[in-house]
Amino acid sequence: MDHSTTDQAPEILLSRYEIDRRVGELAAEITRDYHGHTLHLVGILKGAWVFMADLIRHLDIDVTVDFLGISSYGADTQSSGEVKITKDLDVSIKDRDVLIIEDILDTGRTLRYLQGVLAAHKPRTVRVATLLDKRSRRIAPVTADYVGFEIADVFVVGYGLDFDQKYRQLPDIHVLQHAQPLQELDSTHKKTPLYRGSQGTV
Ligand code: IMP
Ligand code: MG
Repeated sequence: MDHSTTDQAPEILLSRYEIDRRVGELAAEITRDYHGHTLHLVGILKGAWVFMADLIRHLDIDVTVDFLGISSYGADTQSSGEVKITKDLDVSIKDRDVLIIEDILDTGRTLRYLQGVLAAHKPRTVRVATLLDKRSRRIAPVTADYVGFEIADVFVVGYGLDFDQKYRQLPDIHVLQHAQPLQELDSTHKKTPLYRGSQGTV
């Protein structure tokens, strides 16, 4: 993609190859944990569908799939904390082993709301898989059971993640530079590891 005509910097935080490897590792873990069970995946639209499409093809267990649509950020990089359901589940999750698939955990407000909504429908179990986790920004006390990468407090796009509905199609995950003043971003680079994956801190 030609970034010279956009305001997006091309800095890659996580390449498609790193993502692919880590998604395979997560899928192997999930396959082990749910051996002998049928897993019901609930993808949170829209950010999670690229991750979910890749994850599901690595799973070696019986799965069923549904999607829950929720409103996300507008043309802003800050969470409002207000969550609106834009597409309800198609099938009941009662007595099912549910795995919520999220793109990124930020403040945790969205997930806390979703866990409340889903628990009311009496699933057998509910766990959470998120590709990315900005743990340092957590406000609501929630954690994911499966985490692809822990990342620093930077706004990222690509691999399904958007800014104002754009950049979802990028195969790699990029840092959107103008989400923070450049100076701050530079010091973030120096002081904090940008992400922690399976191979330790990078
Ligand atoms: P939370 O409620 O603050 O945890 O926000 C979670 C949602 O915010 C995610 O599902 C994303 O849609 C969005 N989000 C948070 N951080 C980012 C980011 O860095 N890039 C793109 N979307 C993000
Ligand atoms: Mg979003």
